[in-house]
Amino acid sequence: MTFCEYRPGLEGIPATQSSISFVDGQRGILEYRGIGIEELALNSTFLETSYLLIWGNLPSKEELAEFEHEIRYHRRLKYRIRDMMKCFPESGHPMDALQACAAALGLFYSRRALDDPDYIRNAVVRLLAKIPTMVAAFQLMRKGNDPVQPRDDLDYAANFLYMLNEQEPDPLAAHIFDICLTLHAEHTINASTFSAMVTASTLTDPYGVIASAVGTLAGPLHGGANEEVIFMLEEIGSIDKVEAYLDKCMQNKSKIMGFGHRVYKVKDPRATILQELAEQLFEKFGGDEYYEIAVALEKAVEERLGQKGIYPNVDFYSGLVYRKLGIPTDLFTPVFAIARTAGWLAHWKEQLAENRIFRPTQIYTGSRNAPYVPIEKRQSAQDQELLGLVSG
Ligand code: CMC
Repeated sequence: MTFCEYRPGLEGIPATQSSISFVDGQRGILEYRGIGIEELALNSTFLETSYLLIWGNLPSKEELAEFEHEIRYHRRLKYRIRDMMKCFPESGHPMDALQACAAALGLFYSRRALDDPDYIRNAVVRLLAKIPTMVAAFQLMRKGNDPVQPRDDLDYAANFLYMLNEQEPDPLAAHIFDICLTLHAEHTINASTFSAMVTASTLTDPYGVIASAVGTLAGPLHGGANEEVIFMLEEIGSIDKVEAYLDKCMQNKSKIMGFGHRVYKVKDPRATILQELAEQLFEKFGGDEYYEIAVALEKAVEERLGQKGIYPNVDFYSGLVYRKLGIPTDLFTPVFAIARTAGWLAHWKEQLAENRIFRPTQIYTGSRNAPYVPIEKRQSAQDQELLGLVSG
């Protein structure tokens, strides 16, 4: 079969068949295993949602209790992983630290038995359990402190905030953080999920799969956009500068961070929920200087770019929520990774069930049968440019 149309970014080209999540970008609908994101955010915990994504059904009470118990039990990191982290430069980005640590787990659990359900279950549990501990540990270590051990009496979200801030979180803060994790847990075939699937298709170990997905999530056009939103709001500085900022973006043809989406042509349903969560937090704990700027920016972008389908995406309001929860800006993307690990693992499992290695084709645009020039006769690109042989 030959398929010759090239679409940059593979836009609109199905890369797989999947029953994990569904997006209707025109109507702003997101469902996990057929269940609306709003319903899950309201009624389920992140771990319950992870179970749904990975195993395909909502767990019974007993199944959920067992899953939660296993995850609690595996939250601790091996001291060698912690020792390894001590060697990381404190100026390094936490996403790089997380990618290295996720890959390192493969050194400790090197048995690769992809046809053994126990191996799959253990990998799911270990990754969901340990990734938050890694993120929190790096944060404390780069400040020169010892990492805080996980607390078995705290649930998933509360325990992460506790390990990060070294104090037990307010129940509302923990609840809202748990909802944020649910909202970020899965989103069809985005760049990092595709990366996870490609890596999974080689039948490598799940730690390598998650490490490659973490590396892909880190970029500013994907998970890294939530950090960029805060830098942008900081740069804008006040409501009266919003229009001038937008003028500058339009002039330079630069993207406004936290806006636009390959699939959504209306406001991302997750952005709507995150905005509500931000407001709940501000009501209880006091407002955020950037929130009014964000709301004014949303309005202005809608006026100018709404007809092009440019609306807030998931990253626009998430940073404001995270700031209020005491999460430092460069941890926003690692927090996204904590949540998205559930989706990556679901796709890893789905890929294994009907695996065929990814091996797309290309449209070759280079020369053919080019003469081989011996090194002593070659000219540097600079010389060629000076001679006008090549154009810049
Ligand atoms: N600001 C201004 N214009 C935009 C933006 C934006 N944020 N996003 C898209 N456009 C315009 C773009 O200039 C282009 O216009 P034209 O057709 O006149 O040249 C048109 O909309 C289509 O844009 P595109 O870049 O071809 O769209 P894409 O589907 O390739 O990219 C995107 C999607 C999310 C990478 C892009 O919207 C973007 O860079 N947004 C800013 C970064 C961001 O917020 N990323 C988070 C994405 S959501 C969560 C995640 O994936 O992690």
